[in-house]
Amino acid sequence: MNERSGQELYERIPTKVFEDAQLAVGQVARELADAIRKRQFEGNPFVLGLATGSTPVPLYRELVRLHREEGLSFANVTSFNLDEYFGIDSRHPESYYRFMREQLFDHIDMPEEQINIPQGSVEREEVFEACQAYEEKIAACGGIDVQILGIGRTGHIGFNEPGSGPNSRTRLVTLDRLTRLDAARDFQGEHNVPRYAVTMGVGTIMDARKVYLLAWGRSKAEVVKAAVEDAPVESLPASFLQAHKDVSFILDTASASELTRCKYPWLVGFPEWTPELVRKSVTHLSLKLGKPLLKLVDKDYQENGLSELVTEQGPAYGLNIRVFNEVQHTITGWPGGKPDADDTYRPERASPARKRVLVLSPEPQDDVLSMAATLSRLAAHGHELTVAYLTSGNLGVPDEEANWAADLMLEAGDSSLASEVLQELEAKGAFSEDSPKLRKFKSYIRRNEARASLEMCGLGKDCIRFLDLPFYENGRYRRFEIGEADVAAMRALIQAVKPHQIFVTGEAADPSSVQAKSFSVFEAAIRSLSEETWFEDCYVWLYRSDGREWEIHQVEMSVPCSPDEAKAKAQAIYQHRSQRSQLPVMNPEQSEAWEQAIQRNRETAALYDKLGLAEYEAIECFVRWNPRKGEGQ
Ligand code: F6R
Repeated sequence: MNERSGQELYERIPTKVFEDAQLAVGQVARELADAIRKRQFEGNPFVLGLATGSTPVPLYRELVRLHREEGLSFANVTSFNLDEYFGIDSRHPESYYRFMREQLFDHIDMPEEQINIPQGSVEREEVFEACQAYEEKIAACGGIDVQILGIGRTGHIGFNEPGSGPNSRTRLVTLDRLTRLDAARDFQGEHNVPRYAVTMGVGTIMDARKVYLLAWGRSKAEVVKAAVEDAPVESLPASFLQAHKDVSFILDTASASELTRCKYPWLVGFPEWTPELVRKSVTHLSLKLGKPLLKLVDKDYQENGLSELVTEQGPAYGLNIRVFNEVQHTITGWPGGKPDADDTYRPERASPARKRVLVLSPEPQDDVLSMAATLSRLAAHGHELTVAYLTSGNLGVPDEEANWAADLMLEAGDSSLASEVLQELEAKGAFSEDSPKLRKFKSYIRRNEARASLEMCGLGKDCIRFLDLPFYENGRYRRFEIGEADVAAMRALIQAVKPHQIFVTGEAADPSSVQAKSFSVFEAAIRSLSEETWFEDCYVWLYRSDGREWEIHQVEMSVPCSPDEAKAKAQAIYQHRSQRSQLPVMNPEQSEAWEQAIQRNRETAALYDKLGLAEYEAIECFVRWNPRKGEGQ
């Protein structure tokens, strides 16, 4: 079985995996440009179906670049957008009309009359006709040549939520709760997100002659896997694309990570058995069979696609012990290193005993959600800690919280700022954007929450820095653009601390997220500092900030928490008052952020237990970052 055919056994859709989104869109943009130019050469029009959301943003930037720098003209292109929220007009900051103007149409030469976007502001009685007219117009233009798609976490394409049939056409639909939660931040609260949308149907999309579905980041990994590898079902509309004659899924490594070829490469061919892959396959086997590592026998390996491994590196018992020891050695109660101890098998160095530790938190709360217990340990062990909040997080503060704080200030005395804030909140329509003054005020709220939260971890105010990176202060969700000023601020901070340890997050996150942008700023800063001598002695640890945990085989440092430490962690997260009931969560049925965070740490502890290691209450996990590879080692 060669690699290609092994893959094909599982994948029902042609799928290309790229190192990152930028490389991926480079290829799609080139193919699109060639197709558009070919039609130009023939004197014919080209019909392009477009998507919104954060996924196509890098593609649109690349198309704009091709237009500006390589003369790509869109004069012969007619576009049809997939969808639009219903009940908002085109001036709304979150309307897809405005999005398309800002991201693409304002920067290229596509004639205005060739742009088509479903209208969100028609009267309800007129929607049906408007939808039919949209379909007719697509047909009159000769049908869509190339359709660009993203995919929602519900498995939707366009706004065809679960339950949409394969033959559905352009129509009014109700948005799924998860979709609305995902949009909650953009709309400053779930209650502002429209309940309905107008979308092309699955059938409309299937009629396109060629389809590219793009997906980035780990949050899409499960749904991508289901669409590509599982049988097509109405509960996952993207899976209907399996029946399309010319469709390609274009993925980055993070969104592809659940595909069999990435997750269980030994099932699709003969992989290179790196130590990490051995750890992965053996821990996977143990968890799959519900047998502790040390009880696996050769037959277990042979019957579960791991014959090659056990033949080459077995017998089973030797393999089991090797992996058991590796996992065991990740566990430490000394995340800053244990002074005067033999550190040969410890994740951190013993010396210097007192380390300078820099913790980077993209938004206030990312730090405590993932590593409150580790922070407490580091503080208790006397390390010199600096916690830097990279952005103010003001976009995540609901108006009600600002109202609450301004009322309090007013009652306490003479605040003209409080009066101004209250006036602005009073005058503010449901959808208008916050003024710089209101954003500043909201950032004070988050600063105070962050201070209170760190205090619960035993950290004083003097170790906190607020960077207020410009990309965030001058931007909006999903439209952040980092610049040299961001990198300079990060560089200055790292340079000033000269840390022995850095804790950072955002690697492989959704590229449009604050966490991913922050990580890019960090990477750029580190690139220019990596030659400095102090950096040779700096360990960079990655924590997760997307509500998930590292997979067990990836983990290189696991810090157990006692039941009391787990409770203290919940208290620390609880201090982020403005975020209660706010985060678009992994599982909307599940409760508050602190409960989810502790639950995640308990689940990790349960996995260690199942593997046959010690049974802890909860565990926080970290992976070491290798700046050369730009990924976990
Ligand atoms: C947008 C659209 C949606 C998005 C999907 C993913 O026009 O039709 O299907 O593609 O919700 O959204 P992002 O890209 O923001 O993750």
